[in-house]
Amino acid sequence: MGETEMGLTITLHVKARFEKPAEYPERFPVPDQLVNWETPYPGYLPPYYVSPVVLQNDSSRNPSGWADPEEVALVPEIPQRSFSGTLLHDAIGRPLNPAGRTGIAGRGLLGKWGPNYAADPIITRINRHERSIEMLAVQRRDNGQWAIPGGMVDKGEEVSRTLARELREETGVTLDMGAGRLVYQGYVDDPRNSDHAWMETTAKHLHLDPEMAERMELQAGSDARAVLWLPLTPENIRTLYASHCTLVKAALFGLGREEHPAMSHCDREILAALLKVC
Ligand code: BGC
Repeated sequence: MGETEMGLTITLHVKARFEKPAEYPERFPVPDQLVNWETPYPGYLPPYYVSPVVLQNDSSRNPSGWADPEEVALVPEIPQRSFSGTLLHDAIGRPLNPAGRTGIAGRGLLGKWGPNYAADPIITRINRHERSIEMLAVQRRDNGQWAIPGGMVDKGEEVSRTLARELREETGVTLDMGAGRLVYQGYVDDPRNSDHAWMETTAKHLHLDPEMAERMELQAGSDARAVLWLPLTPENIRTLYASHCTLVKAALFGLGREEHPAMSHCDREILAALLKVC
């Protein structure tokens, strides 16, 4: 669905059909050949789910709420487009997931009907002593997994601000993310996704000079249990949260292709060795 600079395309969503947060009902089965909305699926009857947290945050009742009203007719502006292109809508005006069926109707844990936007700042450095590439990573409080220090775009917020804000809030590090290279912008195969609400993200990559990275003081924010420079081994990349594995790989392949002032000949060898195995 989404395009990266390197032409990576996320097509058949998997987490959005086979995984779910504990509070969701079981997903209605959606076999590969019936994912696409254009393919008729006569017996398709996904359970409806909206989390109580989302209902409590209905912005039409609670001025500080982050969620849309449950009734679609009350939503001031139903999105017609997203990073995935022009959106389809069902008979009652609900936007349809651009990657196809998920086996769950309603918004689940996501606040917005349609795309829910996140931002993912990918910060890397070379550790010359260990001969490894490391990424600034946080351990999420919700599931203990290591992750890019990303988060949700606030209403009306510019994505480059979200990237810098999330980085600062979660890791204590302040960087100008405007200088980052765009790695990916589009649909994310996320376990929270439903037929009518899904995640889309903007991921930007900044590769830092080792001395500069060394000077930064790390401090875990409220959503994070811990923050550290995570060595990017194939295993650590594979077990990252949600679709972060795909994003990180795209960032590394991009770095492998560009001239970068912070990359020495030796650093290039370290990167090339990793790219061969991941
Ligand atoms: C996370 C992002 C992630 C997105 C989609 C957000 O909650 O903070 O890092 O890319 O969900 O999975």
